[in-house]
Amino acid sequence: MSLRGRRVIVSAGPTFEDLDPVRFIGNRSSGKMGFAVADAAARQGAEVVLVAGPVALPTPANVTRIDVRSAAQMHAAVLAALPADVYIGAAAVADFTPRAVAPGKIKKQAGMDTLVLELVRTPDILAEVAVHPRRPRLVVGFAAETDHVEQYARGKLEKKQLDLIAANRVGVAGSGFESDENALAVYGRDGFERALGPAPKIQLADNLLELISTRLG
Ligand code: C5P
Repeated sequence: MSLRGRRVIVSAGPTFEDLDPVRFIGNRSSGKMGFAVADAAARQGAEVVLVAGPVALPTPANVTRIDVRSAAQMHAAVLAALPADVYIGAAAVADFTPRAVAPGKIKKQAGMDTLVLELVRTPDILAEVAVHPRRPRLVVGFAAETDHVEQYARGKLEKKQLDLIAANRVGVAGSGFESDENALAVYGRDGFERALGPAPKIQLADNLLELISTRLG
């Protein structure tokens, strides 16, 4: 099965939410899984747009890369890249961002033992793409969980109105965020279920894209 003639948008990596000109709130996503997914889609013949958070990874061959930093920028870049046949949300998007970015470096004062940050919710890019007027035929999410992986993943599948969700356990050695290997459990809203790996992220990405291309028909 080939993805020739299909347009695939992939989001990958973390987002950085700035507090001031020198500090940000980030997360441990390396971007490796999302970049492997973009690479696999391109190798299977798709036209690929990769919306990448701040990561130090080379751009896969035959992939159009759009670099962003914050959840707000990723949101804008993904929506601007529509329409597409497939959207794969592999980014670890910040759920909250500071209400305001301080114009200068936040200074600690004598006697200041605590600092309270006010954070506001970011847009849920994946959930928005799934109900967008230009909704791709397949909307695929990732769920990184430390526990109750299946239960939380299936919950997100329903709540965000996805077609597929690829779940993995994070916080265990040899899988998840910073590793080159991973194991995925893929669930579909139609009851579909498939375990992929443990295997190198490159191979998992190939398997996931084969699965996606079969479902596109
Ligand atoms: O709800 P949770 O963040 O665990 O869901 C993970 C999935 O949702 C991932 O596919 C991620 O890319 C996507 N997501 C998003 N926008 C957010 C938060 C998560 O697209 N603000």
